[in-house]
This record gives sequence, C-alpha cells and structure tokens, in this order.
Amino acid sequence: MLASDTTEIKKHKTLVTVWAVTFLILFPLLVTLGLLMRLNQGEVLKLNAMTFYSLMTLHGLGMAGVLFSTALGALGYVIATRYARLSVLFGYFIYGLVVLGTVGLTAAALLGKYAAGWYLLYPISVQPGIGANWAITLALVSLIVLGVAWVLGATHIVYALGKRFGGFSKLMGWQYLGKTEPKDELPSIALITTVSLVPGILSFLAGAVYLAMNLMQHFEGTLAFDPLIQKNLVFFFGHTLVNITMYLAVGWVYELTPEFTHRDWKVNKAVVYAWNATFFFIIFAYFHHLYMDFAQPTALHYAGQIASYLSAIPSTVVTMFGLGVQVYRAKIKWSIFPLAVLIGMAGWAIGGFAAVVDSTIAINKVLHNTLWVPAHFHTYMLLGVLPFIFAFLYYLAYGNAEKKPSWGFWLFVVGAAGFLTMFYLGGLHSVPRRYSEYMSVNVTGLREAGSQYAKIAARFIEILLLGLLVMYVSLFKNLLRRKA
Ligand code: HEM
Repeated sequence: MLASDTTEIKKHKTLVTVWAVTFLILFPLLVTLGLLMRLNQGEVLKLNAMTFYSLMTLHGLGMAGVLFSTALGALGYVIATRYARLSVLFGYFIYGLVVLGTVGLTAAALLGKYAAGWYLLYPISVQPGIGANWAITLALVSLIVLGVAWVLGATHIVYALGKRFGGFSKLMGWQYLGKTEPKDELPSIALITTVSLVPGILSFLAGAVYLAMNLMQHFEGTLAFDPLIQKNLVFFFGHTLVNITMYLAVGWVYELTPEFTHRDWKVNKAVVYAWNATFFFIIFAYFHHLYMDFAQPTALHYAGQIASYLSAIPSTVVTMFGLGVQVYRAKIKWSIFPLAVLIGMAGWAIGGFAAVVDSTIAINKVLHNTLWVPAHFHTYMLLGVLPFIFAFLYYLAYGNAEKKPSWGFWLFVVGAAGFLTMFYLGGLHSVPRRYSEYMSVNVTGLREAGSQYAKIAARFIEILLLGLLVMYVSLFKNLLRRKA
C-alpha cells in the first residue's frame, strides 16, 4: 500500500467530496427531467416536441457524463490513497473542465434547445434547426471539453498505475499466467482500471474526431462525411463510455468489499483471463448498435454479436462468482455497503442479460428501437452503477462502520425497479423509444399501453425521488462532517 501522508489523504478526500456533492446535486435534477419526459408520454403534461427532445438530450448526455465523471473521481480517490500518486491539483483542473463542459451543455439544451439526442447521430447532430445555431456550436465544443477532461484524467490514472506496477503488461496481469506466482501482487482495482480506461481513452479520441468533423460541417455546410463512418465513431465513443462506467465502479467493489467480509478478493488466473477478454472485446461490442445499417459489412454484424457476448459474460461471471465467495457464509452484518453491492451486482446481471438478449441479431430485429433498449441500459445504470456509487458514498461518509440502510434506500430500490419494469413492459408491447408522446402512434392498443405504462412509471419515479431525499439527509450531513 502507498504510504501517503495524512495531509495528502485529506486533500484527496476534499477533492472526492467535491465530486460527490456535485453528483448528489445533479443526479436528482437529471432524474426530474426523466420524470417530465414520462409525464409527457403519459399525457399528464404537454411539452412541445422541441422542448421534450432538448430535455431528453440533456438528460441522456448529462446522466452518462455525470456518472462517468463521478466514477472516475471516486476511482481516482481509492487509487491515490492506496496505490499510486495522483496530483490533487490536476484533479481540480479536471473537475473545472467537467463543470465547464456541463454548464455549456446545459445552456445549449435549456436556452438554445439543442435537441439531437444523446447519440448526436450525424447528420442530425448538425442539422439546421436542431437547436439555435450558437447552441449547436456550444454543445459540440462543450462535449469536446468533456472529452479532453476525461482523456487527461484517465491517462493520468493509468500512467500513475503503470509507474507503480511496472508497465502495461504487469497492469494487465500477464505475470499471473506463468507457472510461478508473481512476487509483486497486483490489486484487482489496478487491473480493472487498465482494462476500462485504455479502451476508454481510444474511444474518447474517436469521439473527439467525430465531434471535430461535426464542427467542421456545422461551420462549412457544403462539407459532407460518410454517415456510416460517423455512426461507427460515435457508437464506439458512446457505447464504450457507458460500458466502462460500470467497470470503474466494479473496480472499487473488488477493493472495498473485503473490508466488510474480511476475506481476500485477489487477482488470479481466472480473473486475469476474464478481464483480458473484456479488454479486447469491449472495443468491438458497439457493433450491435449497427445491425440496422445494411451498408455495414454483414461479417461485422456477426462479429458484433460474438463480441457483445464475450465482452459482457466473462467479467460478469467472474465478478458474480467472486462476490459469491466473498459473502457465502461470511459472518457479515448486512450494512448498507454489502447490500448496495449485492443489489448493484443484480442490476448489472439483469441489465447485462437484457442487453445480451437485445444484441442477439434475431431478437434485435423485433426489439430494435422499442422501449426494451432504454429498459436494459437504465437497469444497468440505475440498479447497477448507482448502487455501486451509493456504496462508495456511504463508505466515504461512514468508513467501514456498519451503517444500516435507511428506508430511503429501499424506496430508491423499489422506485427504480417499478420504473424499469414499465420500460420492459413497454418494450414487450413494441412501444417505440424516443417518442415524445404516443398519441400519433396509429396502432390499436399501442398508444393506450404506452401512455399507461408511462403514467405508472411516473409514480415510481416519485417514490425514487422521495427515497433519494431521505437518503440525502444523513448522507450529506456525514459526508461534510467526516470531511471536516
Ligand atoms: C429515475 C431515473 C431516470 C429516469 C426517470 C429516466 C427517464 C428517461 C426517459 C423517460 C427517457 C426517454 C425514453 C424514450 O422514450 O426513449 C430516457 C432516456 C435516456 N436516459 Fe434516462 N432516466 C433515468 C435514469 C437514467 C440514468 C441513470 C442514465 C445513465 C446513463 C440515463 C440515461 C439515459 C439515456 C442515455 C437516454 C437516451 C436518450 C436518447 O435517446 O437520446 N437515464 N430516460
């Protein structure tokens, strides 16, 4: 372990508390945008289409960005206080860039009605009228600022780990594949961080190229780019970003769970094989977003299906097994940390399973662009990543003291599960995704089903928000007090 001095640890703690508080403020605001969308789809509210789509854009980009940034900040804290030297000042610089990008995006969506959706699909992303002219520029520049922040932050962490553990091959755990046990132990968090952030950096660079091409086209309308290349670039970026947010959170799950179970959770051959497979296949999993693009070579569609299975299954299975070994007959008190981890694992498995179902070509033909798609990634994020983030925040606020979960936490879980169920039922009824309302859908029964599910979902979102409010009272108090 790294023998950091206490002042340095305190500085890192202040930095991560700033990330935590920012997340705690932004998250319910972004949930509220989701609530407005469902109320509109449930015909309780009447938003005009442009307002709906600008809220959807801000909600999607905001959630993906806030969760990734928070996960990066949390992971940086765990690594800096245990394994490798990270600069606090640089951490604040990254934080400043993320705030700048977030403010820009918010202004573009709320004031300039930028409404391209979170995928910013070319050429919709730069189409005149998709937002005010200035808002298109501001949204693209803000996203570039966010991308630069993430590349810098991720590179800083991977570089520091590489310096500490002896380079890329050591971080990938290849020394575990020989016959003898390696002398220098590699913590799982270092392996998982590398497996997530290296493909992440590549995808952010692809995103930067995509955004720069969009900006060029926006300034010079006679330019045109190949939409298929653009789609590949943006999905490599967007899919990988969301995918690795989960893996970053899994990093601290491996690191902190043993403090509650009092059992080791170490790197071994199986863990190395599983996460190395993830490193490779994560790069190609996004192909499943292109099944409907008939111009894409057919072989790549098949490759996409195989890569989707192989990127998701080994890491999930090895982690589920590891967590099972951690808790099976362990004398643990079911405090908030292990409970949140267990629920997060279930959300990851259920959302991951629904994703694998949807990445199966034969099924995708039916479920494509139905509410099944938001159902699976919302499960993965809301009942997977979010419980892992809450576990971390409670760890930050209470250390490894055995704090019982408040009823606010259970309200959050029930609200999330109910809200997600309505997405799944909508998907199974072929209710289309990204419709601001379903009144114009001319299929018997579908409009009624869509709006009814949306109305019920809104009730569950209110329960979730109430749960957050209850959780926040003690969480905020302890976060700020412990920091002091
Ligand atoms: C209770 C919390 C949440 C609510 C109520 C909510 C609600 C919604 C709704 C209603 C939509 C539009 C669905 C459609 O008709 O296609 C949506 C889309 C989306 N949400 Fe959420 N959501 C929540 C949490 C999250 C989280 C945690 C993430 C994290 C990544 C997220 C990311 C997205 C994205 C990326 C889209 C797609 C936007 C697009 O298609 O451009 N949401 N959400």
